[in-house]
Parts: sequence; C-alpha cells; structure tokens
Amino acid sequence: MTRAPSPLLPAFRYTAGALCTLLVLGIAGCISSGGEPNSTNAAKLALERGPQSGRQLYENNCGACHGADGKSLPVTQVGFDFPLPDFTDCGYNSPEQSADWVAIAHEGGPIRGFTPIMPAFGDALTAEELEKLVTYVRDFCADKRWPRGELNFPAPLFTEKAFPENETLVKSVRDKDGSSETQLIYEHRIGARDQYEITVPYVNLDTGSPDHWQQGVGDISVAFKHVLASSLDKGYIVSAAAEVSLPTGSEASGIGSGHTSLEAFIAVGKQLPNDFFVHSRAIYLTPFDGSTREAELHVAFGRAMTSRGPYGRQWNPMVEVLGARALESGAKTEWDWVPQVQVSINQRQHLLFNVGVRLPLTDRDSRDPQLAAYFLWDWFDGGLRDGW
Ligand code: HEC
Repeated sequence: MTRAPSPLLPAFRYTAGALCTLLVLGIAGCISSGGEPNSTNAAKLALERGPQSGRQLYENNCGACHGADGKSLPVTQVGFDFPLPDFTDCGYNSPEQSADWVAIAHEGGPIRGFTPIMPAFGDALTAEELEKLVTYVRDFCADKRWPRGELNFPAPLFTEKAFPENETLVKSVRDKDGSSETQLIYEHRIGARDQYEITVPYVNLDTGSPDHWQQGVGDISVAFKHVLASSLDKGYIVSAAAEVSLPTGSEASGIGSGHTSLEAFIAVGKQLPNDFFVHSRAIYLTPFDGSTREAELHVAFGRAMTSRGPYGRQWNPMVEVLGARALESGAKTEWDWVPQVQVSINQRQHLLFNVGVRLPLTDRDSRDPQLAAYFLWDWFDGGLRDGW
C-alpha cells in the first residue's frame, strides 16, 4: 500500500536540507573555529619583561584579587562588594573550559556576561601568556578524579553524554501528525564522578479513535550515571548508567507502557582533531513484563565552532545516527539519522538551543520524519536571567 503524500513532508525535507547545508557550510569554515587573538602591544610588553612562568604571570596580574593561593581575597579586602571564585574548588574549576577562561582573561568579565570588575588583559598579555596563565589557574584543582570541562562536548538531541552535568532540559519530539512528547529532564551532579537524572515526559497523542487526542504525563524515569574513566590528554571520557522507567503514564490511553523497564548504557565521548568530537552510546533495554528486550546504538559526530571571532557565539553542527533492534531472531535493525545544530543563546553560553530532524534511513514507507528540539539550561553557571 502506498501512503498518501503529506503536505508536511516537504517542510520536513526542506528543514533537513537547510540543516545539512548549514552543517556543510559550517564544516567548510563558513563559521570560523578558534583563531589566535592578536595584540602587538601585548607582544611588545612581553618582550620587555622576558619570559615568565604561569605562576609569575598569575601572581603579577591576578593575585591581587584572586589570591596567590587561588582562593581569592575576601570581599572585605578587595574593595568591591562582589564575591570572587575559589579556583581550588574542583566542583567549580573542573567543569569549566580553558578556552572560556582565556576569553574572560583576554576580553574581561563581560565577554561571558560577568562583571567588568574582572578586567581585560588582552592588551597586556600575549595569547601564549594567557594560555600559560589559565593552565596554571586550572591546576589549582589538584584532584584528577574530576573530569575536565574540555571533555564536555556539545549535547546531541538523542545520544546522551558521558559527562556528568548540572542542567535542566526541555526536549520535544514532534511527529508530522502533531503528536508530540515533551520531556522535562533534570540532571544533578554528585561529587567528582556521579550524576542522577529525573525525566518527566508529557505526551500529546493522536490515537486515531473518534475522541482521538489524549494528553498526560507519561512514564517517569530515574537514572544514575558514573564516570568510569576520563583523560584530558587523550581527550576521552567513558561512563556507565542505569535508568529505571516507571509505569506512571496511562496505558489505557496509550500514553504509558504499563510496565517498569530498565535501561543500561555505556557512553563514550572523544575529542577529535580540529575541534571535531564524537559521542557514542550502546544501550540495552529490558522491559519487566516479559516482552522483547532491545539493543540500541547511538553515535553523534560534530564540530565545536564559534561565530564572530574566537570568543563569539557557539554554533555546533552535529549529525547523529541511531540504530535500534529487538533482541529476537529475524528482527530488523531500524536506522535513523538526525542532522542538527546547537547554538548558544546568551553571553555566558549556559543557555543553549538545539534543533534537528530525525529522518528514517530504513522502513521509510512506514516511518515518518520527526522534528526534535531542546532548550538547555546549565544552571550551575547561572540563573536564567544571568549572563546576557
Ligand atoms: C580587580 C580584580 C580582579 C583581577 C585583577 C582579576 N580578576 Fe578575575 N575575576 C574578578 C571578579 C570580580 C570575578 C567574578 C566575576 C563574576 O562572577 O561575575 C572574576 C572572575 C574570574 C574568573 C571566573 C569566571 C567564571 O567562569 O566563573 C576567571 C577565570 C578569572 N577571573 C580569571 C582571572 C585571571 C586569569 C586574572 C589575571 C590575569 C584575573 N582574573 C584577574 C576580579 C579580578
């Protein structure tokens, strides 16, 4: 049987096409990635003072506010009523990215939506000196169990990351008939290597029956993730996680599954050359009602980029490939791919938006494309109104 053409399909195809074009243009360097700040003044000064170690640079330029020990001076001593960070606190220091701190030291606090009391050193220090300085500041966190923020690669729409996070997401996936599932996801880090997560889905479903729209809270899930290994030098992070999905949604109206299920997964994030990165995740799903178990494989490949120079807005194009297969003999593997772009929406870059389309690669006659998007708030880096 052939399907009637849907008026929405061209729209999906158009969006997919536009996203792919953006992706290709982005990768071709239309949006610049990185680049060295250039200051002849700083170079002249550096020549005059001769080579300095990270420690000397730090003590001469930053110590007056941030303290020689990295714990920063108390508000009573610095002469302004603004709390300063404690660089020795690994919970604060380790999730950050050196590139962001170089940006702040070069351009001053406002480049990331912080106070202008944090001065700009771009005219006084060279790019090389700033790198050395920031490396010294990062080393105030001496406990290597905390995975470094450089391994926190941009979040794809479906492939969960290995990095433990403090964030809240609203994620929505919409079918072309208007049915949708919107998830509120809360992730909370515990110590150096652990994280728990709660997902509350809201389902809006076209059941096809006369009184056909059904809405309600679906199956709520609770997950726990643990970092097994990470290395900044080798550029990888590996985590294991378990998620229990509870039958909170109404099975009768098609919103819930009616049973508990357990999902276990291993997630790997890896830095590649030229700011490319890859995430992968292998999933094993066991429903507790005796129905068929399932295996899934998610892989996301992307590139971290910025617009308007090295310190500007993040534009991270990504492509995911998602495979799912019932674990029974003769079952076929369903494959989808998801071109998408993640964009930072404020100066602090702790509010991000991602949009993409999930396009079937197999069974295209029986499965339709879906539109997917999320809004992500890294609440550890500030409130919703901070950092604009
Ligand atoms: C005049 C005081 C002062 C000096 C000197 C100073 N800072 Fe700061 N710095 C601040 C203040 C104030 C903040 C807090 C900004 C905020 O939270 O809005 C800050 C914040 C920071 C942050 C944290 C940003 C974040 O992500 O939370 C970094 C990194 C930093 N400074 C690096 C440096 C470096 C490196 C130097 C020396 C090159 C330096 N600062 C010199 C006042 C100073």
